[in-house]
Amino acid sequence: MRAAVLFEENEPLEVVEVDLADPGPGEVRVRLAATGLCASDWHTITGAIPSPTPSVLGHEGAGVVVSVGQGVRRVAPGDHVVLSWVPNCGYCRYCETGRPNLCATATPALLAGTLVSGARRLSHRGLPLYHYSFLSTFAEETVVDEAACVVVRDDVPLSVAALVGCAVTTGYGAVVNRARVEPGATVLVFGAGGVGLSAVMAARSSGARHVVAVEPEATKRALALELGATHAVDPSGEDVAATVRGLTDGEGVDVAIEAAGRVELVGVAFGLTRRGGTIVCVGVPAVGSSASLPGPELVRHEKVVTGSLYGSCRPHVDMPRILDLYAEGRLPLDRLVTRTYTLDEINAGFLDLVSGRLARGVVTFPDATDAAPAASGATGAPGSTGAPGSTPGEG
Ligand SMILES: NC(=O)c1ccc[n+]([C@@H]2O[C@H](COP(=O)([O-])OP(=O)(O)OC[C@H]3O[C@@H](n4cnc5c(N)ncnc54)[C@H](O)[C@@H]3O)[C@@H](O)[C@H]2O)c1
Ligand SMILES: [Zn+2]
Ligand SMILES: [Zn+2]
Repeated sequence: MRAAVLFEENEPLEVVEVDLADPGPGEVRVRLAATGLCASDWHTITGAIPSPTPSVLGHEGAGVVVSVGQGVRRVAPGDHVVLSWVPNCGYCRYCETGRPNLCATATPALLAGTLVSGARRLSHRGLPLYHYSFLSTFAEETVVDEAACVVVRDDVPLSVAALVGCAVTTGYGAVVNRARVEPGATVLVFGAGGVGLSAVMAARSSGARHVVAVEPEATKRALALELGATHAVDPSGEDVAATVRGLTDGEGVDVAIEAAGRVELVGVAFGLTRRGGTIVCVGVPAVGSSASLPGPELVRHEKVVTGSLYGSCRPHVDMPRILDLYAEGRLPLDRLVTRTYTLDEINAGFLDLVSGRLARGVVTFPDATDAAPAASGATGAPGSTGAPGSTPGEG
């Protein structure tokens, strides 16, 4: 089968023939239908968030189960699955206390670039390849841990389900699970990429009164307004603080979400949040960077500064629930897909991502089964794959 391999940091991905071993005990073989291009993959390509190479990247995918290894009970061939990059163990302190996204059992394997057991199932001409975030979805097929498979309804397009594997759950969960945005709240979102736009949608569907999206790219500000933002501000030319003060009687927002991945914005978000408000840090800054916060206000204003990993999600609860909301027309997730690519076009997709043209780019695999109609007119379903060379926005 074919996969896009990162042989070395800062090199383009190479699409090559790769061998995939059969799933071992507790493992599952999945045929990918679609995989999103996330900024986190890009951070690994550049080395800002290192991971062992040579590897098959990709951690935002959905597909169909092909076969299962010994002892697998949770999924069966033919199931539609969203792949979770936290294959949580189910019995550690974090899993037992309802915070499976923080499950630490698998962390050593994550850093080592293997499956949870330490095994690797990918190789190229006899050279073992590393896995990435347990998933390695930039491939026609992959082998993952059973716990990484979240079975989902089979009447939503897998190209939409793929986004739930990272961006959507991350942005939605930051708002719903971590900040617990209340009806009537004012929410500020920095960055209108796949994660930030998902936060915008979730804030509005949670009943927020004002949702302010801060984003330098005009097309994404426009999309943010279509997806539920009440205001969209260009940080390079407009005064974000003045907008926030005007909407909140000078008090600041209830909740600020940093989804741009710029660590200096954490301090900005802190300054624009009201007393007792919540700042959720979602963007992943480079290894070794740190944020700066004003000491006295940190104490006196009782603001909560919190990270959110994977939308603080409970994958097997939240992912099917998010897709139910999509199917009911309450979260127009398909609107996130700016264009689709073939696997061979993946490097072009990343260039589009870093040049700011994509809300989300999605690689689709033509041979994979996809489900029928989108709830709100999907642009991202296979079949709508943009012709090679077509400009973003057309696909
Ligand atoms: N916490 C998690 O579990 C988790 C999961 C997935 C992704 N992430 C991280 O979240 C971040 C967003 O991911 P994405 O895939 O949506 O990225 P993206 O690149 O698609 O979106 C980032 C957006 O921020 C905008 N931006 C740049 N400078 C800005 C500024 N000064 N003010 C406001 N916006 C600005 C960009 O134009 C872009 O639209 C990345 O850092 C990614 O690594 C975190
Ligand atoms: Zn991601
Ligand atoms: Zn656990």
